[in-house]
Amino acid sequence: MIEQNKITQGDAFELLPQVKNSSIDLIICDGPYGITTNEWDRVSSIQEFNFHLLKILSRKLKDGGALYLFGKQDCIDFIDYRPYLNLKSKIIWYQPSRLAQGRISYTNNYDVICYFVKGCKPKTFNLDAIRVPQLVELEHRLRCENVPSVTSGKFNKTKFNDKGKNPGDVWGDIKQLTYKSKELVSRETLNTIQKPEKLFERIILASSNKDDLVLDPFSGVGTTPVVCKKNERNFICFEKNPQFVKWGYERIIQLEKTELMPRGLFSHG
Ligand SMILES: C[S@@+](CC[C@H](N)C(=O)[O-])C[C@H]1O[C@@H](n2cnc3c(N)ncnc32)[C@H](O)[C@@H]1O
Repeated sequence: MIEQNKITQGDAFELLPQVKNSSIDLIICDGPYGITTNEWDRVSSIQEFNFHLLKILSRKLKDGGALYLFGKQDCIDFIDYRPYLNLKSKIIWYQPSRLAQGRISYTNNYDVICYFVKGCKPKTFNLDAIRVPQLVELEHRLRCENVPSVTSGKFNKTKFNDKGKNPGDVWGDIKQLTYKSKELVSRETLNTIQKPEKLFERIILASSNKDDLVLDPFSGVGTTPVVCKKNERNFICFEKNPQFVKWGYERIIQLEKTELMPRGLFSHG
């Protein structure tokens, strides 16, 4: 059986059978997109690849568990995932800073994050943990005037929660990493590999609780383990590139040094 709170080096498809069925609270699946020339990203059909993956991963989830699949806009087109998982949202991770040099069509400047749930209802959705600030105009409106309802058109007081609002399904507030980002592990991991901690933090805070178990079969340079550790979640992580595994452990060790968590709770090696 796979050990928790370790990044296991190896091929996810060979390791996944060792993960107990119905044992996982949350899966973050940031694997191949099928768009780059990286050897690990070469798949003949990203839809077939993701379909195969969703079938395997859905077995690992507890009822009500969540799975976030990263990809491009067509990553689940024309596949019938419905016998396995319910698609709750297709989140757009909008990256306005991406270079837009297309000449014959509109340049793509977002990634898709497909948010699935096993069963009808998520067992965890911690909205209060991920609220974002209300627009200033909304606060103003709340104080000053009634506004028409978007469904009935009737004028009424705006619903307003002073803890903030639901982040919605277009996430433009979390920036991509740049060469200057402190958390960037190496220039080699910019763009195609490393994701911002803030992005994974939103997912982990929303869809898991303290001491829950998070699975990341393609953990790259360890963003999932770092965010899990900061937020007291357990993790099972796989990564086939030994250099990335090493960088992942270096990030974990660095975190331990900053004493965000009691030492010795997590094993590594
Ligand atoms: C987009 S990156 C993940 C980045 C990660 N989320 C992070 O922030 O560091 C995808 C990773 O999947 C790994 N990978 C691809 N196929 C794999 C497989 N079959 N088994 C294990 N790892 C794999 C690649 O080496 C790459 O590091």
